[in-house]
Amino acid sequence: MTISTKAMVGLVGATTALAMAGCGSDSSSDGSASSGSSTAKGGKIALLLPESKTTRYESQDKPLFEAAVKASCSDCQILYSNADQDASKQQQQAEAAITNGAKVIVLDPVDAASAGSIVKRAAQSKIPVISYDRLVAGGSKPDYYISFDNETVGKLQATSLVSQLGDAKGKQIVMINGAPTDGNAALFKKGAHSVLDSSGVKIGKEYDTPDWSPDEAQNEMDQAITALGKNNIDGVYTANDGTAGGAIAAMKSAGMDPTKIPSTGQDAELAGVQRVVAGEQGMTVYKAIKPEAEDAAKLAVSLVQGKGAPAGLITGTTNNGTADIQSIILTPVAVTKDKVKDTIIKDGFLKASDICTGTYAKACTALGIS
Ligand code: GAL
Repeated sequence: MTISTKAMVGLVGATTALAMAGCGSDSSSDGSASSGSSTAKGGKIALLLPESKTTRYESQDKPLFEAAVKASCSDCQILYSNADQDASKQQQQAEAAITNGAKVIVLDPVDAASAGSIVKRAAQSKIPVISYDRLVAGGSKPDYYISFDNETVGKLQATSLVSQLGDAKGKQIVMINGAPTDGNAALFKKGAHSVLDSSGVKIGKEYDTPDWSPDEAQNEMDQAITALGKNNIDGVYTANDGTAGGAIAAMKSAGMDPTKIPSTGQDAELAGVQRVVAGEQGMTVYKAIKPEAEDAAKLAVSLVQGKGAPAGLITGTTNNGTADIQSIILTPVAVTKDKVKDTIIKDGFLKASDICTGTYAKACTALGIS
């Protein structure tokens, strides 16, 4: 309690802070916390997710994280908040979680830079922060980071797009990237450019999409169609399934046939996978959120119980511009329609019965999905 912010920020391995944070009361000594770890009880874990326009957060991350925490720690309590894409709301939600006694914060930042102040505030109260899916920057040092290899996400998307364009040379595409406040979006974009820029395709128009909003993506695509002409667009790089949905809607209303104009996506959202199966969206990137949420839960429980990271969980470090953050990095998978069955469905991420409804039934049958 008397440790200064400066001293906390100076900690390289956050083990001491973590040991202290695990105590039932913040005045307990770190020694008793570490030695008593085998009988460790629970504590409050804050889960702060960024938005609800992308379906993964409410339908996958939250329930999977909660189930994994409950399974390994019946005494643990989760303080959940979704910031609905509002960075200052997330700041308040973090404050509220700290006031309500959170001992660990799992933070998926709306805004990578401004969320740095949440991490610094947590450090003042000796609360470890796990940067979840998106890496917090802003001069802060979150204690841990768990995510996918996000540059690879962009590379997978662009590689698939280029291959679906056939001979890419001379073909023109539109690029619709994610939110400029999301550090991951910058990595997807970087990975995509690393493939596209040397492929011979021409990027006719490129946009960053505020809030990852599908409506914004639709507007951007409308503008691109007006500027370039509907017959001069051969493909679309869209950074996730939500933005792909917006771009495809714009193409349809302009009388373009999305089955002939390959596009990309990410998140394996139900609507995105349905479009992939129907051939309207060229691909999605499947990120197995179950291991991501479960590893985050394992780590959070261990920290709340005053132990460090479980052995073998940390696989490397990632620099956030301020420090090397201990990281768990998972592998994303490109999914074209022929791969849906052996990836997303095989893993139980989505059910065939949910995908293959109504007009999608025929396409599912043709792909052997049942
Ligand atoms: C990213 C995340 C993606 C997607 C996107 C839109 O940061 O990694 O999976 O959800 O945000 O929210």
